[in-house]
Amino acid sequence: MIHIEHLLKCYDSLRAVDDISFDVKEGELFGFLGPNGAGKTTTLSMISGLLKPDKGCIHVGDIDVWQCPKKAKQLLGLIPQDLALYEELNARENLMFWGSLFHLPRATLKANIDLWLDRVGLSDRSREPVSKFSGGMKRRLNLAIGLVHNPKVVLLDEPTVGIDPQARNNILDIIREIAREGTTILFTTHHLEEAEALCDRLAIMDHGKILAVGSVEELALMVGDGNIVTLSGDFTALRIREVLETTPFAVLNTADHTATFSLNQQGNLLPSLLQTLNEAGIEVTDIAMQKPNLESVFLKLTGRELRD
Ligand SMILES: Nc1ncnc2c1ncn2[C@@H]1O[C@H](COP(=O)(O)OP(=O)(O)OP(=O)(O)O)[C@@H](O)[C@H]1O
Ligand SMILES: [Mg+2]
Repeated sequence: MIHIEHLLKCYDSLRAVDDISFDVKEGELFGFLGPNGAGKTTTLSMISGLLKPDKGCIHVGDIDVWQCPKKAKQLLGLIPQDLALYEELNARENLMFWGSLFHLPRATLKANIDLWLDRVGLSDRSREPVSKFSGGMKRRLNLAIGLVHNPKVVLLDEPTVGIDPQARNNILDIIREIAREGTTILFTTHHLEEAEALCDRLAIMDHGKILAVGSVEELALMVGDGNIVTLSGDFTALRIREVLETTPFAVLNTADHTATFSLNQQGNLLPSLLQTLNEAGIEVTDIAMQKPNLESVFLKLTGRELRD
């Protein structure tokens, strides 16, 4: 449903989006996971027709977004990272303003506004100025604005950023619902759990590049199918790496005082590893073990952790 080929956007010498290609299938919930500055918003802005790519092409269905921007706009709904709300207007007026840009028949627009106010739980607050809304309510209204023309393809940029867990769950539930109804969704996040919980497939992005694409299970296989072990202790990144590299384990990351590696189904070799470390004069104070997950994939691909 979304087909991206060799998309490129530069700001002077910075390659904000660096020759990326990917597909989102019809009805799929596809996530873009990456840290600050990865290029997520820049990518979404180009898909939604707000920002002209330097190179590459973007198709939504059989429409070339930059050849036929008007047609593309009807198909697409963008929920931007930065709230696009008029604070002095109420929720209904905001929806009317933004919705009117889609040239729907007035009765359809009014019905859609009622529907979306209800779905985001703002029906009873719809006549209050937005300036009186909480952060979570503003996020929900922002969501409704992007959906008011019932788009087939929805682009959500960090839809849960800066809100409390309850408001976040509320928004995630709405995203799941519209996905179940068959909407194709591309959403960006830097929350690992959010990506894990929601996505059919996802792309891991960093420094403008897509490093890997797949389902959570497919991506987790990139770090092997053994458990992931994290050691803590009084050691330097260099020293622990030197020792770990003499073992059969696959090192994912080392830093001063912490090291992460995959057991890679090597059997129960942990006791002998601890002995090796001990003999090398490395003191381990804590060992944590977990199944491979997106966090370990991210660590392997980028060499650093993705913190929420
Ligand atoms: N208008 C601009 N002018 C110059 N540089 C820009 C501009 N917009 C974005 N950038 C740079 O492009 C890179 C990608 O930015 P982008 O906003 O796409 O990242 P992001 O993945 O959305 O990050 P975040 O998680 O913080 O929202 C960053 O290094 C950013 O500083
Ligand atoms: Mg962004």
